Amino acid sequence: MSGRPSESLELCRAVALNPRVPTNVIAVANQKGGVGKTTTTVNLAACLAATGQRVLVLDLDPQANATSGLGLEKTEGASAYGALLGGEPLAAKLKPTAFARLEMIPSELDLCGVEVELPRLENHLTRLARALEPLRQGTERDLILLDCPPSLGILTLNALAAADFLLVPLQCEYYALEGVSMLSRLLKQIQEGGTNPRLRLLGVVMTMFDGRTRLSQQVVGEVRQHFGEAVFDTVIPRATRLAEAPSFGQPIIAYDPYSAGASAYEVLAQEVLVRLQRLNPAAG
Ligand SMILES: Nc1ncnc2c1ncn2[C@@H]1O[C@H](COP(=O)(O)OP(=O)(O)O)[C@@H](O)[C@H]1O
Ligand SMILES: [Mg+2]
Repeated sequence: MSGRPSESLELCRAVALNPRVPTNVIAVANQKGGVGKTTTTVNLAACLAATGQRVLVLDLDPQANATSGLGLEKTEGASAYGALLGGEPLAAKLKPTAFARLEMIPSELDLCGVEVELPRLENHLTRLARALEPLRQGTERDLILLDCPPSLGILTLNALAAADFLLVPLQCEYYALEGVSMLSRLLKQIQEGGTNPRLRLLGVVMTMFDGRTRLSQQVVGEVRQHFGEAVFDTVIPRATRLAEAPSFGQPIIAYDPYSAGASAYEVLAQEVLVRLQRLNPAAG
């Protein structure tokens, strides 16, 4: 893997070893499909794990792209479904991946049923928050990333109710900002309506940037105007290797560690760690 500044390495070690840093839950959400949620979840998780963080990826999308992207099979009964509906312990669903410090709770088609069945149950918005609580306790993991489906349905709402932070990938395309106001309003409602007052915006990450087009540059400019400092400095380039890696069940740092996509996600991971350190009042 490419070298990093030693200052960042020190910081990663500090975050990994500092027992006062709680297990942070990050929901990767945007109701649009195809904007890079899963690509960002999988690759950011792998890069964070490579720096020493102990990371859990929870795949909440019935399409299970993060599951196959991390090399796991879609197996019946393996998803968070039972934990969301029937009170089964979520810990029973933990699976190791082929990558050090990276574990996963996979998804499969049964998660589709959650959208229909969960609203009929009590506390249907906070089922995931409750199920995740035992996994956040103790010192076994530093970060939990939630890969959300492309909707603002019950699974995404549960993710936002369970998360400390929201990470929003935006594709560098003409309509990037369309629909984002809906997500911003939802964030406010969840914070202020009492469902999850601790939820904060970790940042907006621009994906599939094509430096050869003026459009990409214009979109990044507009998004920076709209979101200001919330936008990560790191912009993820459009890169074929990033699109290929999932079919090999590998994150980009395993599939092609010296590619532009790998270095972009490595730098993003550093930025995420710096923000987490800054935003966590408990962190020394
Ligand atoms: N930076 C990128 N460069 C090239 N292809 C990408 C990039 N990010 C995502 N893709 C591809 O775009 C498609 C949608 O990305 P994905 O992460 O699955 O989006 P979402 O989870 O938001 O639906 C996938 O085929 C993925 O491989
Ligand atoms: Mg996805």
